[in-house]
Amino acid sequence: MRTHYCSHVRETDLDTVVTVAGWVDRRRDHGGVVFIDLRDRSGIVQAVLDPQDLPVASSLRSEYVIEMTGLVKSRPADSVNSRLATGQIEIKVQALTVLNPAKTPPFTIADAAEVDEKLRLVYRYLDLRRANLRENLRLRHEIVKLIRRYLEDELEFIEIETPILTKATPEGARDYLVPSRVNPGQWYALPQSPQIYKQILMVAGFDRYYQIARCFRDEDLRADRQPEFTQLDMEMSFMDQESIMALNEGLVRHLFQKVQGTTLPNPLPRLTYQEAMDRYGSDKPDTRFGLELLDMGEFFQGTKFKVFASVLSGGGVVKCLAIGGGDEKISNTRIKPGGDLFNLVAQFGAKGLAFIRVRGTEQEIQLDTIGALKDSLSADQISQLIQLTGVKPGDLLLFGAGPRAVVNEYLGRLRLALGAELGVIDESQTNLLWVTDFPMFQFNAEEKRLEALHHPFTAPHPEDLADLKTARAQAYDLVWNGVELGGGSVRIHQRAIQEQVFTAIGLTPEVAQTQFGFLLEAFEYGAPPHGGIAYGLDRMVMLFAGAASIREVMAFPKTQKAQDLMSEAPSTVTPQQLAELHVRQVTK
Ligand code: AMO
Repeated sequence: MRTHYCSHVRETDLDTVVTVAGWVDRRRDHGGVVFIDLRDRSGIVQAVLDPQDLPVASSLRSEYVIEMTGLVKSRPADSVNSRLATGQIEIKVQALTVLNPAKTPPFTIADAAEVDEKLRLVYRYLDLRRANLRENLRLRHEIVKLIRRYLEDELEFIEIETPILTKATPEGARDYLVPSRVNPGQWYALPQSPQIYKQILMVAGFDRYYQIARCFRDEDLRADRQPEFTQLDMEMSFMDQESIMALNEGLVRHLFQKVQGTTLPNPLPRLTYQEAMDRYGSDKPDTRFGLELLDMGEFFQGTKFKVFASVLSGGGVVKCLAIGGGDEKISNTRIKPGGDLFNLVAQFGAKGLAFIRVRGTEQEIQLDTIGALKDSLSADQISQLIQLTGVKPGDLLLFGAGPRAVVNEYLGRLRLALGAELGVIDESQTNLLWVTDFPMFQFNAEEKRLEALHHPFTAPHPEDLADLKTARAQAYDLVWNGVELGGGSVRIHQRAIQEQVFTAIGLTPEVAQTQFGFLLEAFEYGAPPHGGIAYGLDRMVMLFAGAASIREVMAFPKTQKAQDLMSEAPSTVTPQQLAELHVRQVTK
């Protein structure tokens, strides 16, 4: 039987007989000698065969499953491969068994990264043979192991499983629903997160809970979103915001140290929500580069430029991005209607982008722009503008004007797009930071009501209890290079406050009772102060792995259309199944 994993055969095994098993990665015929690269989960080892002794060698094809026994030898100096862990040795094969032949695969494993992702998802088991994906899944496993060891052994957390067939939890996305056969007309929801259960566990007295928890959200997918994903979910009692954040910094610092040998700053930097929005136009700012949003409200209040003046008098804002070297790189066509940058911001509510090109020389800077804006500025104001924005010849100023939230959103997006395009993002940096002091609520214009920014179980800031509507929340997000890695909060643990928050988001007492009566009641039976956090585990692994998408760190991810192309889920079911579930299908 097998004595070694392929890549574990080393110089220390010279002149010993080993048996390895795996998949044929490559076969090369060199007149009278056959070379086989054999692959298993550890990597690759080279084997050399004489087809005269082993005629089966000539029949081997890629992805055949074979077992080989042979003598470990040094490679001749000219064939040493320093890129392979086993590059110094090769196995002189004495016996070979084909355990299972394979059809010609639709793509070669070594080149799979170049292949259309759809095809790779259909043949996911082939794609997973690729070193990169294999390493990502191993890293994922190592990270989970580190998390478990740290939380359990250092901090006395215990892992508790919570149900998958649950009642809807409002995390803001659509639920996946499951019909109940034995309760006609009633439905379970798959958990968007274990939020309520973990709070109930605190009421039950477990004090420190964690779970590697599967969550389900029926929402639009992106590179860092899947309908089914995993959280590292935590909840703890008798701790306030500062102590929860400190405990989590300990965990995160431990992970960075162990996974990539990085020592994170202690404490981690923080930004308030307000500051993050003002400076970066985002509550998950990528602080690896500047290009911050500058508030030009005060300046334009004093100018005669009517468009901006009317926005300002209507309570809006005027902000700008000062883009170093932007004059040459960003043409008017791109900023004007139909241009790519125009389209980008228009998508997020911009009516247009006013611009000023900075030209001339250091000694005599000239501003070049469309008529009205230029004509409205006095010579003094021009030099004031240059000073405020710190621009030099060759730069470009892009302006956004309108409601604060809208301008922040589109200039924030523009900032990210330009940061990437202009190559100003320092990829070597690891910027982790907390965003704190989120508002409790935001206005949902569609439904014309307040909605919880985090979720309705988040506790208001104790200083802001007088007016919940404008209160800050005791909530915190952890952001890594512009990706929201995790988020949590101190929770409400008193019925009266929980009821007030439900009322603020427009839940009638009856609806609150039907949906969350059990939680409200639990608060009356001795609920400790508690709080917690959940990290997106897939995102965490993606960032540690340097992968471009969470699909690269999940074994069986779904497509943009939430399909599993390999098993072809979702799929139709039989009329009998539907009938049993008391469900009638209305679409074909
Ligand atoms: P939240 O909704 O912020 O909080 O989720 C926590 C973290 O989960 C990750 N995440 C996702 N990852 C992949 N695909 C998705 N569709 C997806 N949605 C979210 C993100 C996010 O930061 N119950 C609260 C946590 C708490 O308050 O303790 C919650 O679920 O990285």
